[in-house]
Amino acid sequence: MAKNKNNQAIWNTRIQKEASNLFQKVGNSIDVDKRLYKEDIQGSIAHVEMLFRQKIISFKIKNKIIYGLNKIYKEITHKKFEFNKKYEDIHMNIEKRLFQIIGDEAGYIHTARSRNDQVITDFKIWIKTATKGINNNIDKVIKSTIKLAEKNVETIMPGFTHLKNAQAISFGHYLMAYVEMFNRDKKRFLNNLDNLDESPLGVAALSGTSFNIDRNFTSKKLGFKRPTNNSIDTVSDRDFVLDFLYAVSVCSMHISRIAEELIIWNSDGFNLINLSDKVVTGSSIMPQKKNPDLLEYLRGKTGASYGNFFSMLTILKGLPLSYFKDLQDDKELVFNSNDTLINCLKIFDEVLKNCSANKKKMLELANTGHIAATDLADYLVKEHNLSFRKAYQKTAAIVNMAEKRKKNLNELTLHELKKIEPKLTEEVLNIFELKNSINSKKSFGGTSFDNIRKMIIKYKKTK
Ligand code: ARG
Repeated sequence: MAKNKNNQAIWNTRIQKEASNLFQKVGNSIDVDKRLYKEDIQGSIAHVEMLFRQKIISFKIKNKIIYGLNKIYKEITHKKFEFNKKYEDIHMNIEKRLFQIIGDEAGYIHTARSRNDQVITDFKIWIKTATKGINNNIDKVIKSTIKLAEKNVETIMPGFTHLKNAQAISFGHYLMAYVEMFNRDKKRFLNNLDNLDESPLGVAALSGTSFNIDRNFTSKKLGFKRPTNNSIDTVSDRDFVLDFLYAVSVCSMHISRIAEELIIWNSDGFNLINLSDKVVTGSSIMPQKKNPDLLEYLRGKTGASYGNFFSMLTILKGLPLSYFKDLQDDKELVFNSNDTLINCLKIFDEVLKNCSANKKKMLELANTGHIAATDLADYLVKEHNLSFRKAYQKTAAIVNMAEKRKKNLNELTLHELKKIEPKLTEEVLNIFELKNSINSKKSFGGTSFDNIRKMIIKYKKTK
């Protein structure tokens, strides 16, 4: 019989020497996985209720264990619980304390389970809750993005390809592009829950158990759709961790892309957006500086999220089935990615609330680079029956002429335009008005002001 003296490891009958000091220091995970205490206690309560229903433990023992677990829960929430590195992780810390509170009957709690199924049960429940937290924060970002878009439906700016002026767009349309991305991010997080929603509890170490347990009961009790099918897969699987880390990486990447654009547009070279003093920082030497550090923070943190995702992929790459200590690192990666993303979403929301368009500059820049060239080509197709390729060539010749004469397209006279296409009339000059260009893009999903307004209304309704 194991003695279970409280200053000793559970396995002290078999392993008679204490773990080396160094290993005790680095091999434990309590500082990280104590965040799972709530889920661990919830899982244990469901487990002992099931053990009682299946007549594996008595009513009295079940009640004693639940009493002890509730007491531990209170101790931890009131910060009166002493976590001990010596007991490795949250599971052993709680079990050890249970012995202190209710005595030897605590020894029944671990019947028909292992830490291998226990830890993933806790972790899956935790990820479900974290997903809700992340999506709430994405919602806030979506709301702020829509608000800024609403103020900028008619703000004309150059849309870029290759960072060269390409076609005129509305700044509102640009912002609504990110609303699409953030909505997909939300969906990605939610879709992950579909695969995750199977309860690991009861597969024990790796092969199942000889006790007559009821996995459907614990699965239902813990809010899972069904129990997992294969005990070996269950304790080895960390796909759900990868899914989460990938979803964080993608969301982070979206934030990083817009952060990068705002950094460029905030530069003195572009000067397309203004950031209020709340979201910039100064320089220690250059008194004039207002730097977009927060945006840079967002772009930088994406690297950490990718790192966590790749760490997990690498941990799993050569790992045979089933449980290995290597897997213990999964929680640190997930907690770090989760916390980082929540911070980034909050910071980004703050930036959005403190960002405004420099409308004059946007329009000025949009009026350079012969941005209405495609509109002119389209006009030649529609009004003068040219094939698109022919119209493209004529327009290119007009652009060449403008460039040679050091003029913008919209500065050419009708007389000059007619040299290349004699059929042109006064009407063509409207084509160079960027507002007309934008409003001609009425195709579904295009940048016309009406389209943007409709999208904004649609998203405000679904929220
Ligand atoms: N702290 C461990 C982890 O997170 C729990 C599972 C331990 N299982 C084991 N066989 N050592 O991975």
